[in-house]
Amino acid sequence: MPRYRDKHVIPVINDAIDRFASRGSAELVRELADEVPSRVMGSLFDLPWRGDALMANIFRWHRDIVACVGMKYTGEQLTRKAKAASDELNQVLLPRVLERRGNRGDDFISWFWSRAEEEYGEVGVEVVLAHTRELALGAGETTANAIANTIYLLLSEPAVRETVTKDQEGALSALVEETLRLDHSSGGSEMPIETCRWPAQ
Ligand code: HEM
Repeated sequence: MPRYRDKHVIPVINDAIDRFASRGSAELVRELADEVPSRVMGSLFDLPWRGDALMANIFRWHRDIVACVGMKYTGEQLTRKAKAASDELNQVLLPRVLERRGNRGDDFISWFWSRAEEEYGEVGVEVVLAHTRELALGAGETTANAIANTIYLLLSEPAVRETVTKDQEGALSALVEETLRLDHSSGGSEMPIETCRWPAQ
């Protein structure tokens, strides 16, 4: 965990904060919570995660796929958009998966190739691509909502803020646990944007 945190999580969070810090204010759902998960996954997959255009596209393609799944694969237009989004994601991820099959690095796709071969013997490109795609999708909206809800609790409850500011180990972990226990993130009830402004209002 510390390796992933130091190499893939903290640089992404710092990069997001650097983009608004000098402005002195931010809309933290859009500028932090929504940005972090997809860029962390981009970093894990060794994609150029600082690139705004690519990250915005990945965000939009996932949204198109989730819309189709959410409507239980009904609706011609939704299905067409989801298939197009799927093709686009394959075009970005497949070259990485192919490249890492023979040229392992320190990234998640290399790790997946190695572990899958240890566990299951020979595995095909489509298996690694499918798992990469599923992780990229699974990590996005759920984690963004969890981050947004944690920030909301932190900004809206002065006592929580004070405790977590003083204790960034136990109290911070408890805040994350409590946010997940409240189950906003998996229930889809993310906080409205106006409640997550920094500085707190
Ligand atoms: C706070 C963050 C997260 C929440 C609240 C969350 C919640 C969930 C929930 C409720 C499910 C459905 C489980 C089921 O119906 O059986 C799920 C599935 C899944 N999640 Fe997460 N998740 C989070 C973060 C992540 C992350 C960071 C990843 C990947 C790195 C991930 C990958 C997946 C995958 C791959 C599945 C599908 C599992 C399957 O096919 O059975 N999730 N998640």
